[in-house]
Amino acid sequence: MDRDQGGSLVNVTMTVNGAEVAADVEDRTLLVHFLREAAGLTATNVGCDTTSCGACTVLLDGESVKSCTVLAAQADGHDVVTAEGLAMRGAGEAGGGELHPVQRAFRREHGLQCGFCTPGMVLASVSLLQENPQPTEAQVRMGLEGNLCRCTGYHNIVRAVLAAAAELAAEPGEPGEPDAAALAAGPAEVAP
Ligand code: FES
Ligand code: FES
Repeated sequence: MDRDQGGSLVNVTMTVNGAEVAADVEDRTLLVHFLREAAGLTATNVGCDTTSCGACTVLLDGESVKSCTVLAAQADGHDVVTAEGLAMRGAGEAGGGELHPVQRAFRREHGLQCGFCTPGMVLASVSLLQENPQPTEAQVRMGLEGNLCRCTGYHNIVRAVLAAAAELAAEPGEPGEPDAAALAAGPAEVAP
C-alpha cells in the first residue's frame, strides 16, 4: 500500500542538522519518513513503526524523540538533529565531519554489531548524557531501555556510553550535545 495516498498535503519546513528542509507531504507523514525521503537522511531507521525499538530516535529541539511517533507536521518550524548531524562538527572522517564523542566511544568500545539500532542508540545516549553527564551503569541501562538492539550487544553499548561520559567530563570544552550554532554553520573548514 502506498502510504502517501489518501491525506491532504501540508507544507512542512524544519531545520535538519542546521539546514532548512521544506516539502509538501501528507498530513499523516511521520517525521521518520520525512527525514528519510524528503531530507534524504537514511541513518534514521524504521525498526518497528510502533514506538517500541528506538531505531528512529532523533533529537527534536535537543530532546530525544522516536520519530515514528511524531508527525512531520508537528516538527514544522522545529530543529531536528539526526546521526548524520552529529558528525558535522569539524574536519575529518564521515564526510568531512568529526565524529561526536559518543559516536567515537561506540566505535572504540565496539558498541555496535549490525549497526541498525546504532544511530538511534547514539542519539538516545547523547540526550541521556545531556540530562545526566555522569550516569551510573544502572542509569545508562535504564536510560536506554527504550532502544532495542536485536544483536543484544548491550554490554558494549553501556560501556561506550560510560566511556563517552568520562571523555566528555575530561574535555569540558566538548559539549555533550550537538552545538546548534556549529550545526547551523555547517561543516567547519578543513585546515590545509
Ligand atoms: S521505528 Fe520508531 S520506535 Fe521502532
Ligand atoms: S547493533 Fe544490530 S540491532 Fe543493534
